[in-house]
Amino acid sequence: MKKRLLSGMRPTGNLHLGHLVGALKNWVELQENYECFFMIADWHALMSEYEDASKTQEYILDNVADWLSCGIDPNKSTVFLQSQVQEHLDLYMFFSCITPLGWLERCPTYKEQLREIKNRDLSTFAFLGYPVLQAADILIYKASVVPVGLDQLPHLELTREISRRFNHLYKNIFPEAEALLTKTPKLLGLDARKMSKSYNNTINLSDEPAVVKKKVQSMITDPKRIHLSDPGHPEVCNVHSYYSVFAPQLKEEIDEACGKAQIGCTQCKQQLADILIEKLNPIQDKRQELLKHKNKLKEILEDGSQRAKKVACATLKEVRKAVFV
Ligand code: TRP
Ligand code: SF4
Repeated sequence: MKKRLLSGMRPTGNLHLGHLVGALKNWVELQENYECFFMIADWHALMSEYEDASKTQEYILDNVADWLSCGIDPNKSTVFLQSQVQEHLDLYMFFSCITPLGWLERCPTYKEQLREIKNRDLSTFAFLGYPVLQAADILIYKASVVPVGLDQLPHLELTREISRRFNHLYKNIFPEAEALLTKTPKLLGLDARKMSKSYNNTINLSDEPAVVKKKVQSMITDPKRIHLSDPGHPEVCNVHSYYSVFAPQLKEEIDEACGKAQIGCTQCKQQLADILIEKLNPIQDKRQELLKHKNKLKEILEDGSQRAKKVACATLKEVRKAVFV
């Protein structure tokens, strides 16, 4: 029996290279060895986008198209939409009843987001409960493996705490969910900060070649390298770290050429842009094809949600029985 795995993304923007390297590549491989559930977390998106949710609807299908074009296979994995499986909300309510307020108020991601996100009012009831819904997402499938980034570890910790508390109060139903971290080094944005839509420093999976070229040329390099004749320090250069991720076979060559000032940054970036364009090309072809048939994409989500619902209903039945005996 394969272990069950769940992960999800909030449909709040176009997917970018950070998603590809940090999550999707990993998900595609995991499909072979786990029973996978991949979820579009539209309720979680609404928690921050509630003032204007119209874009969220577009991102749902757009993100699914990206997932599939990167190799997520709806025949191998269950690809579904959170809000189409209502049982998530039932379990969320059960969990809300047993989750002490202090656990949520102390959650570091919550405090950080309230501090950092200034263009939205996140001091809402739902936003405080964000990790409770996330726990329900995971545990309604009794998933024991959850591939996520480092930033999500506090939510996984809370998921385990809620699971333990439920099992202790009622009946041993839920597993301990473990985070599965990616081994690939983190890909930084064009400005060497974290790659994020809100920093406007992403290369999107849907960016056309001309856009990729322009963006790569704007990347920050070794700040000490001003003239072509200055030897560079590839270890501090963000462009170089992209080579490590997307063309590891060229890494040494670039190291040497840069260190000896045999290659200029413009040329180095041109070559990187070509590599990225070539990587993105097959993904974009598939993506365009998929987006031509939006009804087909909707169907994939509906089928997946039906499949997910079967598992979710079975868990919820057990939960009701355990709580309401
Ligand atoms: N909070 C996750 C993120 O922002 C998205 C998410 C929602 C999720 N529910 C989940 C991830 C369940 C893993 C499991 O990335
Ligand atoms: Fe970075 Fe390449 Fe310039 Fe060296 S040559 S500093 S690796 S962009």
